[in-house]
Amino acid sequence: MNLCIIGSGYVGLVTGACFAEVGHNVVCVDNDRRKVDALKAGRIPIYEPGLEELVLRNVSAHRLVFTDSIEEGVDPSQVVFIAVPTPPQPDGSVDLSFIEKVAREIAGVLKKDQYRVIVDKSTVPVKTGEKVADTIKRYNKAGADFDVVSNPEFLREGCAVPDLMKPDRIVIGGNSDRALALMKKVYEPFNAPILVTDINSAELIKHAANSFLALKISYINAVSAICQASGADVEKVADGIGMDRRIGRNFLNAGLGYGGSCFPKDIAAFIAISEQLGVPFTLLKEVQRINVDQKERFLKVIREALWVLREKRIAVWGLTFKPDTDDVRCSVAIDLVNDLVKEGAHVSAYDPKGMEKAREFKLLAEGVKLADSPLEAVDGAEALILATEWKDFGNVDLLEVKKRMHTPMVFDGRNLFDPETMKELGFTYRGIGRRHD
Ligand code: UGA
Repeated sequence: MNLCIIGSGYVGLVTGACFAEVGHNVVCVDNDRRKVDALKAGRIPIYEPGLEELVLRNVSAHRLVFTDSIEEGVDPSQVVFIAVPTPPQPDGSVDLSFIEKVAREIAGVLKKDQYRVIVDKSTVPVKTGEKVADTIKRYNKAGADFDVVSNPEFLREGCAVPDLMKPDRIVIGGNSDRALALMKKVYEPFNAPILVTDINSAELIKHAANSFLALKISYINAVSAICQASGADVEKVADGIGMDRRIGRNFLNAGLGYGGSCFPKDIAAFIAISEQLGVPFTLLKEVQRINVDQKERFLKVIREALWVLREKRIAVWGLTFKPDTDDVRCSVAIDLVNDLVKEGAHVSAYDPKGMEKAREFKLLAEGVKLADSPLEAVDGAEALILATEWKDFGNVDLLEVKKRMHTPMVFDGRNLFDPETMKELGFTYRGIGRRHD
């Protein structure tokens, strides 16, 4: 099939590459000329395992092309996906101006004798599909035939390619049999379960799913505080709860809390949506509060152990909001580094992929030193904080770490290390919600 994806950001680019990989002809559109030129030259603007090979392979097979012209994308394509940003506004509600603009632009290039399915893939509030359809109808001077469909995306950064190639489910919300038949054809090669709903339900599924996952994280983080206060071990507690198949072990990893470009924004948006609809979802406010508290409680543990942070040399491993990505947006690790600097600590940080973007977007407070390796970061440090659980950090020679540190003290914000091993190696170790002496 011939498909168009408007917006070549995280969702758009990975979706486009995966659609091409299963044999569709895909035109990826972006209004950022520089990004389009980079993609045409084979330069991928984000780090995502497996993505570069996928893009390069499909570009050489002529199944994937890039352009900054919406017309060039929409004209040959039976199905047009919208994957543009839906950023938060100061009150938590969603800024839909990019969606609205793209809807007008698509309407402007539709042709009378061509039927098009316009699919919203961006995360949007319930009832956005109705507004997109109204907008296209109003700006569609040619009077072209079209349908609007909602098809939310569930990929996670760091494993976006496998998530897209082997999804748990595909949600398609629409009310036209013609559009649904085309959508099923798009997804046929993925052999995944398809759930067909109305547009409003599909839109709501996305916010409800992300909010539930965030709730699971905040739940285990709240339990971790009780573990910490009582001498229980949150890892064991999570195993014990997670073995119940009704609950499951996934997303029960206690840590510094959730971050990234999705959960904080989507939970705030769902709260705003519920308030606008007159049915405030207050439970989610507690989810947010627990998430903020989690970092504060960790800082308190650090302060208790180090007493005064001023002039302390502290190494931080990890800057990205999660491992296997270079994404540093809304990263708890970055917030933590900046909190330490505010209290006068000298921070030396290392991250396998996130340092360039942290530097480029000037996210780190002045004075933070970026080290060339995890070992260089700990040179002379009075404490090491693990903020993001990159696998590489688990493979660093801990005896060498201890040798290089001024005082062997480790604060493990993601419970990557085993407390017993750390003790045997001679570290003073503090995890999240874990027993220590
Ligand atoms: C999330 C969802 O998992 C995807 O299904 C969704 O498509 C995506 O948002 C989106 O809306 O676009 P993502 O933000 O990429 O994906 O990453 P996650 O793996 O969900 O992690 C989010 C945050 O939660 C990270 O900061 C991570 O460290 C934290 N987390 C995750 C925990 O603290 N504990 C856990 O057990 C799991």
